[in-house]
Amino acid sequence: MTELTAHGFAYTDGDVDTNTSSNPSLNAMIQQRYSRRATLRSGAAAASAAVFGGAILAGCDSANADGDFFPVIVSVGSSGATSSGRVVTLTGNATDAGTITSSWTQISGPTVTLTGASSATATFIAPAVSGPTNLQFEYRATDNAGQTSVGTTTVAISPAALGFTSLAKNKNDIVTVPAGYTVTVLTRLGDPIASGAPAYKNDGTDTDFASRIGDHGDALYWYGLSASGARDDKSSTRGLLVQNHENLNVQYLHPNGPTSTGGVRPEAEAIKEIEAHGVSVTEIVEGANRAWTYVQNSTFNRRITPNTPMVINGPVRGSAMLRTPFSSDGTAGRGTINNCANGHSGWGTNLTCEENWAGYFRRSGDDALRTPREVTGLRRYGVTSSTGSYGWSTVVAADATDTRFRRWDARATAGGTAATDWRNEPNQFGWVVEIDPYDKTKAPRKRTALGRLGHEGAWLGNLASGKKVAVYLGDDSRGEYFYKFVSDAAWNPADAQAADRLAIGDKYLDAGTLHVAKFNADGTGVWVPLVFGSVPNRPATGSDAEYVFADQADILVHPRLAGDAVGATRMDRPEWTATNPVNGDIYLTLTNNNASVRPLGGTDAANPRHYNDPKGASNQYGNPNGHILRLRENASDPAATGFVWDIYLFGADSADADSDVNLSGLTASNDFSSPDGLWFSRPTNPGGQVKPLLWIQTDDGALTDRTNNQMLVAIPGTVGDGGSVTITNRGSGGATATQTTRRGAPATDATLKRFLVGPVGCEITGVDSTPDGRALFVGIQHPGEDGTAAAPDSSWPATQATGTAPAGTRPRSSVVVITKNDGGVVGL
Ligand code: FEO
Ligand code: CA
Ligand code: CA
Ligand code: CA
Repeated sequence: MTELTAHGFAYTDGDVDTNTSSNPSLNAMIQQRYSRRATLRSGAAAASAAVFGGAILAGCDSANADGDFFPVIVSVGSSGATSSGRVVTLTGNATDAGTITSSWTQISGPTVTLTGASSATATFIAPAVSGPTNLQFEYRATDNAGQTSVGTTTVAISPAALGFTSLAKNKNDIVTVPAGYTVTVLTRLGDPIASGAPAYKNDGTDTDFASRIGDHGDALYWYGLSASGARDDKSSTRGLLVQNHENLNVQYLHPNGPTSTGGVRPEAEAIKEIEAHGVSVTEIVEGANRAWTYVQNSTFNRRITPNTPMVINGPVRGSAMLRTPFSSDGTAGRGTINNCANGHSGWGTNLTCEENWAGYFRRSGDDALRTPREVTGLRRYGVTSSTGSYGWSTVVAADATDTRFRRWDARATAGGTAATDWRNEPNQFGWVVEIDPYDKTKAPRKRTALGRLGHEGAWLGNLASGKKVAVYLGDDSRGEYFYKFVSDAAWNPADAQAADRLAIGDKYLDAGTLHVAKFNADGTGVWVPLVFGSVPNRPATGSDAEYVFADQADILVHPRLAGDAVGATRMDRPEWTATNPVNGDIYLTLTNNNASVRPLGGTDAANPRHYNDPKGASNQYGNPNGHILRLRENASDPAATGFVWDIYLFGADSADADSDVNLSGLTASNDFSSPDGLWFSRPTNPGGQVKPLLWIQTDDGALTDRTNNQMLVAIPGTVGDGGSVTITNRGSGGATATQTTRRGAPATDATLKRFLVGPVGCEITGVDSTPDGRALFVGIQHPGEDGTAAAPDSSWPATQATGTAPAGTRPRSSVVVITKNDGGVVGL
């Protein structure tokens, strides 16, 4: 016992003395005592360290005597410091001649989940904190005589910070991410997702895209699965990735690009192209060593294509405007197309949004066979093509009763009706479509109460018990409007886990009020309800006569006309929305506009810029770099009819923009252009708590002289954290004009960083993570979009591993999963 008393500790039977200080002299005594004891007994020994963020921390704690005279000796680091979302490793050391069991427990501070708690080494993710916060942990070791020694350590947690070095802009043909992160290609165009479907050859000969991942992967979302295959919102290791397939790089889908003979497309090519659109549901899993893969044979896997049966729900169900030869009563339809951004419902379903559907229809030339009202409506939505995208309606089907191609010819026919031609087929598109990803037997439901638009996304505001459900809706076209749907029903949290998920969708998404936004110059705004009887006639415009709405279904089929009628604010292409999960602020990307729609004298406070961003020798006037607006509902009520707003960020080229353009103070490490995808980290991990991370994806053509498209991550403030600013806009020929707007606090290199740069020719779109925030899924859309089958201008993702691929390798839209090498929350 003399060696123990020599250290100045007092011992009594079974007692434990703990010292939590980092007093070096105590540590030295531990070492001294350890050496002596090792000499005496030649006992087991182990190194002693506790590691926080790579630093080895020294300290000492306690010891007591054991029954065979010699005690267990423990040592842990006395303290460490880190910030929210990072991995902390607690390393205890125990030494004794006999066998030892040891464990870690938390004794103070916000509760964390300890992994490996029943061992000497435990880890946890530092929790979200709003200020410096200490967590204390106890290490307990027991020897084979049943005597226990204990040490404690303190970990100081700071609030979240972006934990990486901002990436440089680049034009490489790979996905680049910061040091310390790993990119894994998860699913690619053509990957088989049905048992028996052959591997993708990627030479243009592959068929059956209804059994493969589609093209142009866009928005995506993770739906967790338990080990038994049930819905599990907490799962971060097994889930369903629901991804939109917006469009085609058609040149790579066939051996030598698309063909036609005498203006007639081959049926086999058209089938491939049609089926490569839509939505995919794919099971993905995390395997050993955090390796992510998709499960080809999963029974959950599903493709929804433009041919998949759909149900029409909501106020327009059964309208004469939706009657087609496929659905004589206007209650059903086939398929979804040009699925762009998304939403998730809060009750386990996915919302997919039909965006540029209008162009797929052949329609021009039939004005004389339609009513003037019909023509006004079709023109307002751009259903004016003389061919329809990809010319599918030209196919002469082998089976004369097969209408899968003829349906894309929406021309009214002489003597025909909605029962004999496809004049109403365009009214079947432009909707938000709800899908139950967990039940492939259920037909998706088109939610007509949310209006027919060029829908970008459908993102819910934060759900609150007893409050109505708000859905924010961008209509992505130059000069279009921003909308909000408010449910009639108040949210009941018990609905979140209901078994019949689409029935819950019926409750909240089939009855309610669509509103359109008007932004005032003073930083306020109003939501104007688009309700039949209160919406005035749409005035005569150009060659269109005054439009008199017939009923609520007419308004919901034509919200753009209703928005015109009430004087809604014309926006610079409203794209994604995102809801701050903590404070409810709603963010909206306004990707860009050009001088013809937003001329020098045509700005307003919410769309305030007109300038030139030169690209090489070319001028780009208008608002080529876009901005991100945000709003807060009055009283934070989802049903509010008024709000306050400001502009969170202005895109700009930091190299050549002046201070009237670079209004957010962007630098080379965070400049961007044309924001599109927008997503807050999930509130189930530190990235989405306290001050959540906002991820910004670009779909840009203006800054591509300097960089491929990119994804940034920000820690934004709140609506109103800046102030009023008056800017000088500059048009061609030296003309100027001033515009006052509401600007948020400028970005800094600490609050906005570039996290990812994509390969050549791509757009970055689609982002979500596992609930724990440790695996981030990102969509890389249309790499190599400007190349040809003979000369692809990207070979990504085949290039990802080494930077190169065999000449001629075709690019493939893909999803990547990004993990932090140390296992921490991505971005922090
Ligand atoms: Fe499909 Fe507006 O992006
Ligand atoms: Ca430029
Ligand atoms: Ca988009
Ligand atoms: Ca694109």
